[in-house]
Amino acid sequence: MLVDYRTSDDAGVYRWPGGPALVQTVDFFTPIVDDPFLYGQIAAANALSDIYAMGGRPLTALAIAAFPGDGLDDRLMRDVFRGGLEKLRDAGVSLLGGHTVRDNEIKFGYAVTGAIDPERVLTNAGARPGDILFLTKAIGTGVVATAIKFDRAPAASIEAAVSSMTALNADAAAALCSLPGSVHACPDVTGFGLAGHAAEMAAASGVSVVISARDVPLLAGVRALVAANRAGGLNTNAEYFQVQAASGIPEDLVWLLHDPQTSGGLLASVAPEAADRLADAFRSRHVQATRVGVVEAFSGRPVIVE
Ligand code: CO
Ligand code: CO
Repeated sequence: MLVDYRTSDDAGVYRWPGGPALVQTVDFFTPIVDDPFLYGQIAAANALSDIYAMGGRPLTALAIAAFPGDGLDDRLMRDVFRGGLEKLRDAGVSLLGGHTVRDNEIKFGYAVTGAIDPERVLTNAGARPGDILFLTKAIGTGVVATAIKFDRAPAASIEAAVSSMTALNADAAAALCSLPGSVHACPDVTGFGLAGHAAEMAAASGVSVVISARDVPLLAGVRALVAANRAGGLNTNAEYFQVQAASGIPEDLVWLLHDPQTSGGLLASVAPEAADRLADAFRSRHVQATRVGVVEAFSGRPVIVE
């Protein structure tokens, strides 16, 4: 076993004697958008993300689904599966099968298996003082999903969140893999929010992470939405992953650092001398990546917000 739950990583890596290692992960969740086809796409992009974050290549997937089965028409369920399948095809991943149960609350997602070079596994551990942090997607999907639930999300915010959540992290991961040895750690940003995943990386690496709050890319409209549209998970994250925020940092920006993301971007910790080359690698693959902070020697707080 090369990677298991002990480093708080979201995928495990099993070394197969000779050849590549196996990388495996599972993710599923309740609907976060109204359109079943898009929900399926988001579920697939989200499940594949943990394989990409480790530096792996996803190969096969098994669907996990829960549907009420009464009153809900078959077409809705088919559209969810169709959306997921289209996204898996984009990623070159084969759907092998899956399992569906009856449940009052809809749930959908996948267990994904991939191949990975055992010498080049990216985990939460490995970030080094001096590293530059890149984030490959904007923040705010939790806030937008909450606003959608209460019918107060502007169309521009919904559109931005959906196009971000349905985007695969494949190109971002390819950019990272083009600089072997220079990328030291790489979680994807999901349920714990940017601050929470940074905190897990800091803990696993024995460093402090400094986030430049004003540099963090945000989805359209989320600053205006965050005060009234905090998901339950946001408050839990803020309580659990306490950050040290410098005075003068607007409160709404700190809240957004705790916003739970669905199908979020990769948070890559990169050697400073490779940062410009990595920025070029992202650009040539049309990945919108932003420098959002740096890594420092551990100073008593895992996450510092400046
Ligand atoms: Co993850
Ligand atoms: Co996950």
